[in-house]
Amino acid sequence: MTATIDHIDATQRFAAHNYDPLPVVLTEGSGAWVTDVEGRRFLDCLAGYSALNFGHCHPRLVARATHQLQRLTLTSRAFHNDQLGGFAEAVTRLAGKDMMLPMNSGAEAVETAIKVSRKWGYEVKGVPTGKANIITMGGNFHGRTTTIVGFSDDPVASGGYAPFTPGFRGVEFGDSDAVAAAMDDCTVAVLVEPVQGEAGVIIPPEGYLTRLRQLCSEQGVLMVADEIQSGLARTGETFACDHEAVVPDIYVLGKALGGGLYPVSAIAADREVLDVITPGSHGSTFGGNPLASAIGSEVVAMLEDGHFQERSRQIGARLGLGLSALLGRGLEGVRIRGAWAGVDIDPGLMTGRQMCLSLMARGILAKETHGATLRLAPPLVATDDEIDMLVDAVTAVVTR
Ligand SMILES: Cc1ncc(COP(=O)(O)O)c(C=O)c1O
Repeated sequence: MTATIDHIDATQRFAAHNYDPLPVVLTEGSGAWVTDVEGRRFLDCLAGYSALNFGHCHPRLVARATHQLQRLTLTSRAFHNDQLGGFAEAVTRLAGKDMMLPMNSGAEAVETAIKVSRKWGYEVKGVPTGKANIITMGGNFHGRTTTIVGFSDDPVASGGYAPFTPGFRGVEFGDSDAVAAAMDDCTVAVLVEPVQGEAGVIIPPEGYLTRLRQLCSEQGVLMVADEIQSGLARTGETFACDHEAVVPDIYVLGKALGGGLYPVSAIAADREVLDVITPGSHGSTFGGNPLASAIGSEVVAMLEDGHFQERSRQIGARLGLGLSALLGRGLEGVRIRGAWAGVDIDPGLMTGRQMCLSLMARGILAKETHGATLRLAPPLVATDDEIDMLVDAVTAVVTR
């Protein structure tokens, strides 16, 4: 294990300790599998927090990226490049929106949605300058910028970073009456994860998104769906909002949009919303670069025939069957939406971290979230046998 120890030592000494990774050092990945520096293979059941929906190094994405890498990678937006137009068209087609605005990380896309919502509020809705408010949900996770952690209710995420940006009103996730009560004439947006991933794959009550859509339409408020983790086939549909046939005003996309190869994010909205953005009012050196655009275009092309969405539903059915059998036998809760599962472990049995270490010993990589909850998000290229392997490992760990 010298190689593992050396790599971990260097990381611990020279990289800030903003994560607490499992003690495994990965060096290769292919499909649903990764290999560590000791030559051990693991089934990757975190899939880069859903950034790797298509698995590691998907040949189609690698081919497109390699082709683009050898041609042109960055131009800045001072000039046009021949990839962005096609990417923008692809994203808007997928989202059913008029326009998109490309960024890099998820947090930047959320920031973009916040800025666009505020500007739309002042310029289109007529909210007095400086008075706009945005309704956010308890338990949210939208990224790590100062503004975003300011409306997080996780003290670990926000502690030590005050003062925060004003203009956000938190309400309980899943409670549409609370959203209605929090709205006033200055509300410009409701920001919601259709399924809360970081919080533990929390699925809102049936009809919640529909009611939010109604409220937003009635009150002239933008419904902003952060689909960074839930979108792009993870839940068995292209977007998690599709489960209620709800179309938000702004989709916020990231993670899998870069195919696990590259950070690519975007928001998509109609012209009357995105037209508030004018030259100089927002930007990013890397957003919409040719490499990102080529990869993003290929991702959208891969999603268009519905194959991955279908596979996600199949994986979900199989996972659901296997994991539900463990309810009362080590598991206290199982929430499944597509190939995405939140699993509450009996806290008397073990912590989430202990569970992850035990799974790792059985060749499965997964990550706990909030104490005794495990989040499972296998790549959508995982086979039935691989899903069975995951279920068998969870079963063995909780029933041993
Ligand atoms: C729903 C959601 N929004 C935003 C983010 C932030 O994305 P990034 O880490 O790329 O900034 C995440 C990341 O986990 C997320 O799950």
